Amino acid sequence: MVEVMLAPPAAASGRAGRAGNGQSRPRRLSEVEGEAEERLFLPIGEFSRVLGGGIVPGSIVLVGGDPGIGKSTLMLQMAVEMAALGSVLYVSGEESTRQIKGRAQRLARGAEKTNANPGSSLPENLFLVTETNLNAILEHVTAIHPTLLIVDSIQTVYLPEMESTAGSVSQVRECSTRLREVAKSSDMAVFVIGHVTKEGTIAGPRVLEHIVDTVLYLEGDRFQSYRLLRSVKNRYGATSEVGVFEMGEHGMIEVPNPSEAFLAERMINAPGSAIAVTMEGTRPLLVEVQGLTSRTNFGNPRRTPNGIDFNRLLLTVAVLSRRMGLDLSEQDVFVNVVGGLRIDEPAADLAIAAAITSSMRDIPIRADTVLIGEVGLSGELRLVSQMHTRLREAAQLGFKTAVIPRRIRRGEAWPEGIQVVEARSLREALSHALLPDEPGRGEAGRGEAGRKTGREVPR
Ligand code: TYD
Ligand code: MG
Repeated sequence: MVEVMLAPPAAASGRAGRAGNGQSRPRRLSEVEGEAEERLFLPIGEFSRVLGGGIVPGSIVLVGGDPGIGKSTLMLQMAVEMAALGSVLYVSGEESTRQIKGRAQRLARGAEKTNANPGSSLPENLFLVTETNLNAILEHVTAIHPTLLIVDSIQTVYLPEMESTAGSVSQVRECSTRLREVAKSSDMAVFVIGHVTKEGTIAGPRVLEHIVDTVLYLEGDRFQSYRLLRSVKNRYGATSEVGVFEMGEHGMIEVPNPSEAFLAERMINAPGSAIAVTMEGTRPLLVEVQGLTSRTNFGNPRRTPNGIDFNRLLLTVAVLSRRMGLDLSEQDVFVNVVGGLRIDEPAADLAIAAAITSSMRDIPIRADTVLIGEVGLSGELRLVSQMHTRLREAAQLGFKTAVIPRRIRRGEAWPEGIQVVEARSLREALSHALLPDEPGRGEAGRGEAGRKTGREVPR
């Protein structure tokens, strides 16, 4: 049960006072000037793209994510970059200004190293304050007139005229509504940070998502270095756009070529490794899916997915047992998506099934082959969207072959530079993807020598 205050006294009367002041006037669509949206240039490319190309003045953006994932770090980096163009106010309810300065210095040292710009000191126009009272924050805003305001985090700020505690539904809702009003009236861009609870909702249920213009989530495995910035709502750009970063010693580093990065540590010709091509927003991403089967020692065999849905793994295992005759009944099955990535797309089904089969049979998948397609319950392959985009990305990274579902209707020719093998079923696809089993290749003969093909393989 969550206590909700229906009419916060101050806020309610404030609204009533403004009602019907005759400011708005309906205009014909044809009379509305097609104003090109003005945007502030944000020099962090990956971030900018997720926002739809820069920061929109007057907009309010929510940046959500688990604690410790790097929200404050990324926001501070943005603050430092944007302070070169105008004043920025960074409000923290969690850290002291001294702590933030320490972090900023660490980030600046990193920037110095990479930019070869020695002496690049901390920006003059970046203001820090530790404050949780929203009224006080808004006073600072009036005094400084920043082009950009960052509130870290929305769960720590409160309006004293409301009785509930900071972080409660009514506080979170009222504070963000107030911030939005100030943003719109002063053309200041506001970024609020929100912690995501274990259940995956930003505290103060989804109320926040309706109030803000844009919702971004920063996600990734805390123990791995990649971070994905994903837009799930955007009034000013495409949703499900993704920016990829790597958490380094000196802050978040952009990863402009994520597919390459995700494949960098791949072991060529190791059984149990398959390459999938998933779409993250408009961008294709090549990822390595690893499968491992291992004899169950006692009890029920375990199914352990990392980066894919548990039920999807169960389903794949069932299809492999029933349609491919793969006996997994006494095998623990592990699936891992390399890089801490999470794939929810059915397009990765084929790669998941192939990785498990490859491990079980101890036969590697061809290193220069990508696998794209949804697997149905009868073991049939189903087409997935945006195949051309996926194939082009695979070709660009040097892959020679793609095994994909068969097209029923002829469409546009497949892109150049990659051989496309259309398969009707999982069985057919795997016969193309797996290296031929070498007879007599026992445990002993399974060394490196047996596998070296001498071919150039993409990495
Ligand atoms: P932080 O931005 O404080 O996370 P959030 O605001 O989302 O809670 O980042 C916390 C983690 O990031 C912390 O464990 C330390 C690590 N970190 C780095 O690895 N490199 C860095 O340069 C910085 C500033 C933090
Ligand atoms: Mg933080």
